[in-house]
Amino acid sequence: MHPWLAQRTTAFESSGIRKVFDLAAKLKDPINLSIGQPDFDVPDEIKTAATDAINEGKNAYSPTQGIGPLREKLKATIDSQFAHADRDVFVSSGTSGGLMLAMLSMINPGDEVIYLDPYFVMYPALLEMCGGVSVRVDSSPDFRLNPDKIAAAITPRTKMILVNSPANPTGITASVEELEAVAKLAAEKNIALLSDEIYSRFMFDEDFVSPAKFNDQTIVIDGFSKSHAMTGWRVGYVHGPSEVIAAMLKVQQYSFVCSPQPAQWGALRAMEVNLSGHIDDYRRKRDLICEGLADYYEFAKPGGAFYLYPKAPIDSGSKFVEMAIERGLLIIPGKIFSQHDSHFRISFAASDETLHRGIKVLQDLARELK
Ligand SMILES: Cc1ncc(COP(=O)(O)O)c(C=O)c1O
Repeated sequence: MHPWLAQRTTAFESSGIRKVFDLAAKLKDPINLSIGQPDFDVPDEIKTAATDAINEGKNAYSPTQGIGPLREKLKATIDSQFAHADRDVFVSSGTSGGLMLAMLSMINPGDEVIYLDPYFVMYPALLEMCGGVSVRVDSSPDFRLNPDKIAAAITPRTKMILVNSPANPTGITASVEELEAVAKLAAEKNIALLSDEIYSRFMFDEDFVSPAKFNDQTIVIDGFSKSHAMTGWRVGYVHGPSEVIAAMLKVQQYSFVCSPQPAQWGALRAMEVNLSGHIDDYRRKRDLICEGLADYYEFAKPGGAFYLYPKAPIDSGSKFVEMAIERGLLIIPGKIFSQHDSHFRISFAASDETLHRGIKVLQDLARELK
């Protein structure tokens, strides 16, 4: 290790995903089903709102908590959903920025944080940077949020339960009953409940319900990256109890400073954009991939997000992904999101043509490996 590097940089590694991208870089015309962002472009009216903001000189720092009109609009929407007396909101530098601030503001060294395995790759890394301890609850084979398993993982050191529904990498959505049970469990035990709702707009079969409905202390993180294809714009938001939000703002002030101001004006416009066409399209893509693979792979049907998490037909998920990549199909080994090397992640945020090509490679591979 280089003598200048801090210990915290060694607590996690990024080599797994890099290996996939290195392999991908060698492919000529890859069938890319690895990308965790929508395949549509930012809607035109959002682009116009952001470029207008730039041309009108709205290029300086914004207030730490975000531009007034966006914050007010978010606050009005949140208040209409929850009517919690003590719920405050601020604009973060993407959902990732919100996650980082949540960890820095709430996790002391040695604090335990419970979340499901498989998980979004950023969770263990962020936690370990803060000296937190990951307590991973194995959610296989159905990848559901099982309140009994969560309850069994609680110890006197548990500081936080982190839920993510719809989930990356499985696309599984928690039921209202599961969310209610976990939300009430956290309240009863006085444990922080952090809800990563970045895929809340991508619900295919049911309406989205936040655990904040059942626990007024829930800290919710959401953003515009996935819903409006604005991953590079870095606009997210966090709402929760005002004292926690104030602490997160203090950390934002001395780190991210603010979300980029022109992007915030774009996000304000984004709140008026009707996404139903895109959601319908992604539901259709979900059905297309599920039907194409149903006879060949074991998987739990995703109710949201844009991921499918099938079991590899051989023992090693990463070996299987290498075989797929050799055939030009880019997918992600489950090992990156899990302690188990048994599954792989497909993103169906891709054109129909790409999806059809990917399904064909996967069908052929399954037949070969039988
Ligand atoms: C579960 C989950 N949370 C958060 C993020 C980060 O999103 P953002 O672009 O808003 O930082 C992602 C992105 O892949 C995600 O999958």
